[in-house]
Amino acid sequence: MKRAQPEVRHCALMYTDYRASRKEALKELSMSQKGNVDKGALLAALRKNGFALINFSEIGLSDEALIFAADKLGVGAPYVPEYFNRMGGCERSRRGIATIRSNTVGTHAGFQSHRQQEMHVDGTLNELGEINTTILACCTPAIIGGFTIVGNCLALLNSIRQKNLLLVEALFNERALTRSAVSFGGESTTGPIFGRKRGYVFTRFSCDNTSKWNFGKVDNLSDAFHSCAMEMGYHSPYVIAFAMKSLQALVLCNSRVCHARSAFQDSSLAPRTMKRMIFKPDLLQILM
Ligand SMILES: [Fe+2]
Repeated sequence: MKRAQPEVRHCALMYTDYRASRKEALKELSMSQKGNVDKGALLAALRKNGFALINFSEIGLSDEALIFAADKLGVGAPYVPEYFNRMGGCERSRRGIATIRSNTVGTHAGFQSHRQQEMHVDGTLNELGEINTTILACCTPAIIGGFTIVGNCLALLNSIRQKNLLLVEALFNERALTRSAVSFGGESTTGPIFGRKRGYVFTRFSCDNTSKWNFGKVDNLSDAFHSCAMEMGYHSPYVIAFAMKSLQALVLCNSRVCHARSAFQDSSLAPRTMKRMIFKPDLLQILM
């Protein structure tokens, strides 16, 4: 049987301790009205932390501003999943901008409820390494809760690699994780928790309500899951939680970090509202 290669290419993110570098990690960059941002600082933040926060006060968070800013950053137009069009998505979803706002009728735990959304990587209904960048913009923060949580998956893998290579092998198994769409016909994709592409390690570490770890099909996967869960608690050095502010956008390197959201309380006058776009290009690679 072909055994997974447990080696992980060294990168800054593997040694990032979010507890030690919290203040620096949460330092905001600014997007100018013309869509310019300090790209050196952005690259440094993405390399070290796997994410960056950008203040959009000057440019605003209209759909047009977001699409313009993304293009200026270099990731191009937002990705629109093929099933959005096939299942008749709304105009905004056809442009690749999803609105995240709690309501009483929707069924999507992440997009339409105020409940906690567990750790996941966006775009993993696509092939591993296909959806590399997320931009999540905060229009209106929650009154209470609704913290954004980022998990450093490469540091997690590095830590597990140092303890037990069998667990790493389980995490690289092609049958390890099935992710299913909440709506749009419940499509699903099965693949590894971590995989290798273009010489780099990519993650699709997810344990939210759309994720099924296939314990019965992969040796040692159950132990691997428990090790991951132990190391990805909210007090872990690999996890950072913060409240996003209005007019702030979070850029995520999906190949390297996962993210989650804590439960929140809404205001009927100003419900928590976020806008999300996903992209195929890897902004970190573009900036390097
Ligand atoms: Fe997400």
